Amino acid sequence: MAFQLKNVVPWGRNLAEYRLMFELSDEDMKKRIAGFGDGPASFNYEATEQGYNITSFDPIYQFSTEELRGRIDEVRTVVMRQMSENKENYVWTNIKNLDELENTRMSAMKLFLADYDKGRAEKRYIYHELPERLPYKDGSFDIGLSSHFLLMYTMLGYDFHISAMTEMLRVCREIRIFPIVDLDANNTELITDVINYFKSGYDVEIRKTRYEFQKGDNKLLIIRN
Ligand SMILES: C[S@@+](CC[C@H](N)C(=O)[O-])C[C@H]1O[C@@H](n2cnc3c(N)ncnc32)[C@H](O)[C@@H]1O
Repeated sequence: MAFQLKNVVPWGRNLAEYRLMFELSDEDMKKRIAGFGDGPASFNYEATEQGYNITSFDPIYQFSTEELRGRIDEVRTVVMRQMSENKENYVWTNIKNLDELENTRMSAMKLFLADYDKGRAEKRYIYHELPERLPYKDGSFDIGLSSHFLLMYTMLGYDFHISAMTEMLRVCREIRIFPIVDLDANNTELITDVINYFKSGYDVEIRKTRYEFQKGDNKLLIIRN
């Protein structure tokens, strides 16, 4: 089925959050980084402003600024209502309350929207849908990231995850996935099976992170070639 914007909930995080989730050190930031499913995050814009080399991939990058702005406005109220109904499932230390959460997310997405056309022209935002083959040679990137996409949408299934992550590992020397839980912050059989698959051919590490927003989403998966 064709990818449709009305089925996506664009919701973006910022550079500080990416650095915490993925434990990106100053040295890591200097490497060639690819973000898969970066959506409307401001990670690419903020890191580019600081002189780093980031390429973001997402199927929503086929849409115009106005289309993305419209969809962000549509989902904003729905997401905030859901957050308010489930606030006890979150850790309110870094982000103190719902207002701060809404401001943080909207600020990140505003930065993204303002940078989007320029970033597309500079080939920093590239329309791509996993698990399709990427138009890059093997080892083109040092680190590939997936925040709140892979392993979280378990309904995409085992085969999707194996193909998507294998393709990421073709173009990246290592990949980092955060978090390692599904949408309800549960570990699942699919997540365990996918991790076990990669343990047989790659170096697999699971690291506890300082970042935790949804209760239980405090682990980072690193897979190295
Ligand atoms: C919840 S958002 C996370 C955005 C960003 N990574 C962050 O954490 O702020 C999930 C993103 O995954 C993207 N996505 C959905 N299907 C995808 C696919 N097959 N390949 C790559 N990205 C996909 C969506 O378009 C959306 O932007």
